[in-house]
Amino acid sequence: MKIAVFGTGYVGLVTAVGLAEFGHQVLGADKDGDKIRMIASGKVPIYEPGLEELLVKNLKSGRLEFSADLGRVARESDVIFVCVGTPPHDDGSADMSQIEEVSRLIAANLNGYKVVVEKSTVPVRTSSWIKRTIALYKKTDLTCDVASNPEFLREGSAVSDFLHPDRIIIGVESERARDMLVGIYRRHEDRILITNIDTAELIKHASNSFLALKISYINMIADLCEKTEADVELVARGMGLDPRIGGLFLKAGLGYGGSCFPKDVKALTKIGEDLGVSMGLLREGERINAERVRLFIHKVKQALWILKDKNIGILGLSFKPETDDIREAPSLKVIRHLLAEGARLRLYDPQAMTPMKQVYPEDGERIVYCDSALEAARGVNALLLVTEWEEFKRLDLEKVKEVMANPILIDGRNVFDPAAVRAMGFEYSSIGRK
Ligand code: UDX
Repeated sequence: MKIAVFGTGYVGLVTAVGLAEFGHQVLGADKDGDKIRMIASGKVPIYEPGLEELLVKNLKSGRLEFSADLGRVARESDVIFVCVGTPPHDDGSADMSQIEEVSRLIAANLNGYKVVVEKSTVPVRTSSWIKRTIALYKKTDLTCDVASNPEFLREGSAVSDFLHPDRIIIGVESERARDMLVGIYRRHEDRILITNIDTAELIKHASNSFLALKISYINMIADLCEKTEADVELVARGMGLDPRIGGLFLKAGLGYGGSCFPKDVKALTKIGEDLGVSMGLLREGERINAERVRLFIHKVKQALWILKDKNIGILGLSFKPETDDIREAPSLKVIRHLLAEGARLRLYDPQAMTPMKQVYPEDGERIVYCDSALEAARGVNALLLVTEWEEFKRLDLEKVKEVMANPILIDGRNVFDPAAVRAMGFEYSSIGRK
């Protein structure tokens, strides 16, 4: 059985490499020829721990190939994983034009039975559109099946999430498609849940929105903690001890960002409202998330009063640690607010400075990129921690304090122990803790 993976973004590239690692023959495809050449030469265009090594290993084994000839890839494969982008429109709904384009291409190249698998996150009922599109544009009376197999990988741990999944959701409507997909994931057979296609599509949106709500919930509790003597870290620990709640995704801070949660919450809200379902719960979760940066900036102002011409260091630009991705990163809004108030910024991130320079270029005056966390702290009136990279947790804070103009530390991710940093002489504030 030959597997095609259409799209070589985060999900597509990890899927192609991961399926090859499972021992399958995989053809990765993308219409971006430059990107395909880069990947085929063993280079990964994103920072994702472990991915490049696995790519090189599987290219060498001959199980993995890449091509920009989409028609050929469609013709040569039995199962096609569709991993192209579904970016948001202004109203929150997903732009499905790339999925439509791939469906038409598959229709035009249908030369035998195939299973077309939705892997990108798509609105519930997308499969019926794919089926209809293929039926409209195919030139033969050959048939194919559509299936849904949503991907749950997280950036920063994508390779291990793919190779060791908690669950594999397979939405199908024929035994033939089911058998082929179960065969692909045979090594994780005990983790497979078979559903109909609408259910599989909805599981993905419902999971991401639930996790986003969990984060907004603990952030709401953090705001409450700040008005009392309670400590949100301990509240979260205490809640998490109940196995019905669980301790994960209860970290208060600057809120969720990235390419999935913000987009998926908006998309599910729109899907529900279009179908006449009240989605106020998700709307409120989104509102709480949008407030996080404003509350953080308020803390900065409480420490510095006037921001104009103040020097401020920022540690962490990516939307979460272990990635260079800045899509919907809280740092973008933090920087925008601080610049609007006339602050001068010293920025540092272990991986995400290159993409951030595209958005906020270095000007040597208001925006300076630094080679280390210590350099970002040099001469600043306050240091803000925005993303919780491991190296920040191990910072020599004595040295940091020495190079700062004022020892003010504002921790947006509750990385430091308040008593310890205050004992070192820092004026310290964090989220949901006195
Ligand atoms: C998420 C889902 O976890 C994954 O299953 C899906 O396939 C894609 O979307 P990802 O966006 O890579 O993955 O990162 P994740 O680790 O889930 O974090 C998302 C955001 O939530 C980050 O901005 C993170 O900082 C924030 N977060 C996470 C919190 O603020 N608090 C938490 O407790 C957990």
